[in-house]
Amino acid sequence: MKIHAIILAAGKGTRMRSLNNEISKVGFEILGKPLINWVLDAAKSEITGRTVVIVGFGGNHAAKLVEGKAEIAWQHEQKGTGHAIMQTIPLIGKEKGQTLILSGDVPLITNRALKGMVEQHVNGNFDLTVLTAKPENTFGYGRIIRTANGEVSKIIEQKDLEGDEHLVKEVNAGMYIIDNEKLFEELHNLRPNNKQGELYLTDVIGLFKEKGYKVGAHVLENSDEMLGTNDRVQLAEAAELLKKRINRAHMINGVTIEDPNNTYIGPDVTIGPDTIISPNTVILGNTKIGVANLIGPSTYLKDMVIGDHNSIIQSHLVDSEIKDNIKVGPFARIREHALVENDSRIGNFVEIKKSHFHEGVKASHLSYLGDAEIGEKTNIGAGTITANYDGVNKSKTVIGKKAFIGSNSTLVAPIVIEEGSYVAAASIVNKDVPKDTLAIARCRQENKVGYANVIREKQKKK
Ligand code: UD1
Ligand code: CA
Repeated sequence: MKIHAIILAAGKGTRMRSLNNEISKVGFEILGKPLINWVLDAAKSEITGRTVVIVGFGGNHAAKLVEGKAEIAWQHEQKGTGHAIMQTIPLIGKEKGQTLILSGDVPLITNRALKGMVEQHVNGNFDLTVLTAKPENTFGYGRIIRTANGEVSKIIEQKDLEGDEHLVKEVNAGMYIIDNEKLFEELHNLRPNNKQGELYLTDVIGLFKEKGYKVGAHVLENSDEMLGTNDRVQLAEAAELLKKRINRAHMINGVTIEDPNNTYIGPDVTIGPDTIISPNTVILGNTKIGVANLIGPSTYLKDMVIGDHNSIIQSHLVDSEIKDNIKVGPFARIREHALVENDSRIGNFVEIKKSHFHEGVKASHLSYLGDAEIGEKTNIGAGTITANYDGVNKSKTVIGKKAFIGSNSTLVAPIVIEEGSYVAAASIVNKDVPKDTLAIARCRQENKVGYANVIREKQKKK
């Protein structure tokens, strides 16, 4: 049996109070990953059929985030969650199977919880299962109304509650799995008979009960998992919980994190055991880190691979003033497509991009190494810069193994420095250097012996 997914993401996210109308609420990021992608990834292993994301406000932006991962349905006017699902009719209205319905702004939901809901639904032959929770604060959520024998009979929205319904502690987490054909049959019977004048998806439950379909509820063990990110306070709260969850998992797996409160690791990062992460470190994207490395303090790594054993990666962030629309990176960083092999060292204020450090390469201080291939055991002196960009094209720097690049050298790419060569400090190298050669490309020094006294004489006050 196929399991499809529909993800609701048309909402405006008014409470985010963004001045940018182009950006969708589900595009706000936690640990470098957009909210909608957290939800998609949590559901991924359960989905065997089609995936549809419903977009509206900032829809182009949202659609881009899920490109290649989902089909897009547009909801141009927000007339409720039921109306949103109707927009997917042309795409999956006729599919057989079961459909997970999720919200794009609940990044804390786990695969474990979704799997639990799907299993209960499938094994119990339910037609509709709603995910519910018992949070401390029920305000704002639809309440689950059960019959005397405990069966779910309907959901009543906060604004439509009457009398004792206010006392109900169980709420709708806003996630469901529903028989697809029955869902799309009943959608047409929704009516906007409520305070908001919307078509509520939740009213499908009443319609299913009338038909005698089997409706169940799956209760979340941890009600935090349904927390939405409606404003930037909730965004930070969710980020805090996710950071803790991720750091904890790495520590359980044998990674030392010296200061988990000040370590930010993205959800797709892998780290081998015995690696030690010092405070104020940010590791994002598809970064893979091997075993027994020392990372940090104050280091920023993104989309890179670091091998095993004692690669020491250190860099530092400093305070800076941030005006409008300026991208401020950390002052030293390792960014996309870097591959750092075993026993290498990357010191402070070194920036690396699209570069491959073979085993035992050392770049300890103050360097920019972009589009570079650096051979085994080569030493890169302080202040070495690869001049990889001519204003239009990027070019490669290739350095062989066991080379020694003197401090403050500028390597003008494209350039090849063969193995075993030396580059004298402060050289500007723009011609290839053959094997075992010393390249000196700087002005020759002249010593005027005794001339310091002449200067001092001239400088005497008259
Ligand atoms: C909804 C549920 C409520 C549940 C709560 C859980 C309904 C009627 N109510 O309420 O029972 O407790 O979620 O968080 O479903 N959306 C659209 N198009 C629309 C309306 C909403 O795409 O026309 C999307 C929103 O972007 C959001 C999701 O659907 O991702 C939920 O909508 P929202 O307005 O936040 O519903 P709630 O009032 O929170
Ligand atoms: Ca909501």
